[in-house]
Amino acid sequence: MSEQALLQVQALCKDFGGLRAVNQISFNVHEGQIKALIGPNGAGKTTIFNLLTGVLPADHGSASFAGRQLLRLPSHRIASLGIGRTFQTSLLFDQMTVLENVMVGHHLRGSADMIASALRLPRVAVEERQHREAAMSALEQSSLSEIAQWPAAALPIGQRRLVEVARALASEPKLLLMDEPAAGLNMRETDQMGELIQRVRDGGVTVLLVEHDMSLVMGICDEILVLDHGERLAEGTPREIRSNEDVLAAYLGQEADD
Ligand SMILES: Nc1ncnc2c1ncn2[C@@H]1O[C@H](COP(=O)(O)OP(=O)(O)O)[C@@H](O)[C@H]1O
Ligand SMILES: [Mg+2]
Repeated sequence: MSEQALLQVQALCKDFGGLRAVNQISFNVHEGQIKALIGPNGAGKTTIFNLLTGVLPADHGSASFAGRQLLRLPSHRIASLGIGRTFQTSLLFDQMTVLENVMVGHHLRGSADMIASALRLPRVAVEERQHREAAMSALEQSSLSEIAQWPAAALPIGQRRLVEVARALASEPKLLLMDEPAAGLNMRETDQMGELIQRVRDGGVTVLLVEHDMSLVMGICDEILVLDHGERLAEGTPREIRSNEDVLAAYLGQEADD
């Protein structure tokens, strides 16, 4: 892989008071990859997503996406450059339908749209149709078209998680950051999520995946970066990571703590 990486992260650092949550983390994500970011609880995985999406300011380091510097941009600019995200905890609007929830994802792409709709400008009707079309296409890609009109409150957890991915896809990202998409899912639902993530990648979206389910990670990822207490522990292919002694020790340590 000699071409420039889609996402290049260098020496990223973040402190919370006396705690160094992210310590000099560098990695690349190449276009078309599914790359995993794994590590025990508290390793700094979600914090890295928060730094890359402008939710939190970084203390040091740099990150570039398709050649653009990210770290000083506000969240909505980062989203409009083509970085989408799903969250560790489920965040659907229960009172809205699946379709409406996914339309929010497309809405979030451009903040000018939000201002226009607040002012009820005439192009709102056109934009409403665009949101709907983008959302329907994301639902189709996620095999969820049949439940488009269901209220989100009626969905079992497995489908909620898939709808959250569809909502992120509706923002038409080039890179999708996924924070524990299989958390709380049973084996069958986890398999469905794995298939969706691979379909997303096959559809041209690069994926950076935080996930605890090791069979999912090992089954679908091209490359894995392992963190522990904010530090880089290892990086390599699933086969390399599986047999890495530092990684095994970090995970066994976590089980002993629990
Ligand atoms: N906003 C915050 N304020 C203070 N501490 C935080 C904040 N976010 C995360 N942390 C701490 O930073 C460390 C890394 O957290 P996090 O990135 O959520 O880990 P992971 O996602 O790998 O489980 C943890 O010790 C956590 O308690
Ligand atoms: Mg986390």
